[in-house]
Amino acid sequence: MTGGRSVHAIQLDVVAPDDYVRDVLPHSSALWAGARSFDEYAAEFLATANSGWGKRRFRTLGLRVGGELVASCKRYERVLRCGARTYRAAGIGAVFTPDALRGRGYATALLGAILDAERNGGTDLAYLFSDIHPAFYERLGFVSLPSRSIALRADLLNAGRVEVAVLGDRDQPAMRRVFAALDARRAFAFVRTPLDWEWQRLRAASREHSGGTVRLGVRRGRSLAAYVSGRRIPASDAVVVDEFAFARDEDRPLIASLLRAAAGDLRTVRGWLPPAVARDGIPRGAVRPRTDAIAMAIPLSAAFRAALHDRGTPERERADPCWSSDHI
Ligand SMILES: CC(C)(COP(=O)(O)OP(=O)(O)OC[C@H]1O[C@@H](n2cnc3c(N)ncnc32)[C@H](O)[C@@H]1OP(=O)(O)O)[C@@H](O)C(=O)NCCC(=O)NCCS
Repeated sequence: MTGGRSVHAIQLDVVAPDDYVRDVLPHSSALWAGARSFDEYAAEFLATANSGWGKRRFRTLGLRVGGELVASCKRYERVLRCGARTYRAAGIGAVFTPDALRGRGYATALLGAILDAERNGGTDLAYLFSDIHPAFYERLGFVSLPSRSIALRADLLNAGRVEVAVLGDRDQPAMRRVFAALDARRAFAFVRTPLDWEWQRLRAASREHSGGTVRLGVRRGRSLAAYVSGRRIPASDAVVVDEFAFARDEDRPLIASLLRAAAGDLRTVRGWLPPAVARDGIPRGAVRPRTDAIAMAIPLSAAFRAALHDRGTPERERADPCWSSDHI
C-alpha cells in the first residue's frame, strides 16, 4: 500500500502443471475438453505436461495481478527451418481469461509480456492459431498466414489397386523417415525432432476422444512408400486428415488410395489444406478459408525478419504453412 492506494504487482509467471489444473482448467474445460470429462481432460493435461516432451518443450504461463492468476496460456517450443537455417519458435496456445475478468486488458498484457520475454531470450518468432477474430492478435503485431480447409468426396478419389496396411507403433520409425523425405523438399517447415514425435504420439492419443484414429500406409518391402494419419468421425460422415507423406514422387498417387481406404464407408475427406509440397497428392476439392485455427506469426529477431522479407521462395507467398498435426 502506498498513500492509501493499493499497488498490485503485475507479473508473468510459469504456472506449475498442478496449479494450472487447479486454477485454470475448471474455467477453460467447458471450452476445450470436448467429449472428455473434467477428470479425463485434467489427467491428459498432466500426462502431457509431465512427459519427456512436456518437461523440455512445454510450459503453462500466467499473468498474476496481486498474486491472482488473471490470464494464462500454453507455450510450445519448436524449431522452424527456412532453407538451410533454423529459427527458434515459440508457439502460444489456449490463451484464456476467466469470464469475470475479461475486457480489462489482461490477455493483451499477458501476450505483450510474453513477446517481450521471448525477444529478450533470443526467440526468433512466435506463432499461434487463432480461434477468434485475428484482429485481437494483429493489434499485438501478429500477421495472418494462409489458413484453409479442404473437403473432398471420398468416392471421387482415384484409388488404384494397392495393398493398404494398418500401421501401428512399430511403424513409427518408417513413418518418420517418409515424413522427413517429404519435409526435406519444403522451403520452410517445423523441424520434427524425436521429442516432437513424442508430442505427436501424445496428441494422437488425445485426439482419440474426437474420433477413432486411423493410420494407414503402403509398404515397400520393409520400408514405407506412403502413409496417411487422421480420425474417422462417423457423426460427421467424414475422415479428418491430420497429415500424410510419400517417400518419392512416384509414390504421390498412393495418397488418393490411402485417403479412400481411410474414409471407408464415410462420405467425406476433410482437413487443412496441406502444405504446398503435398498439395498435388490430393484432388483439388472444395477449398475454403478457415474461420478458426487461423495461423498467425510475429517475427521477433532481426534474422528472422530478414528471412521473411526474402521473397525468393514463392511457396512462402501462397501456401498454407503447416499440417494440422502441428496445431497447438
Ligand atoms: C480472447 C480472450 C483471451 C481475451 O481476454 P481478455 O483478457 O478479455 O482480453 P483483453 O482485455 O486484453 O482484450 C479484450 C479485447 O479482446 C478482443 N476480443 C475478445 N474476444 C474476441 C473475439 N472473439 N474476437 C476478437 N476479439 C476479441 C476484443 O477487442 C476485446 O475488447 P472489448 O472488450 O473492448 O471488446 C478471452 O475472451 C477468452 O479467454 N476467451 C475464451 C478463450 C479463447 O477463445 N481464447 C482465444 C483462443 S485463440
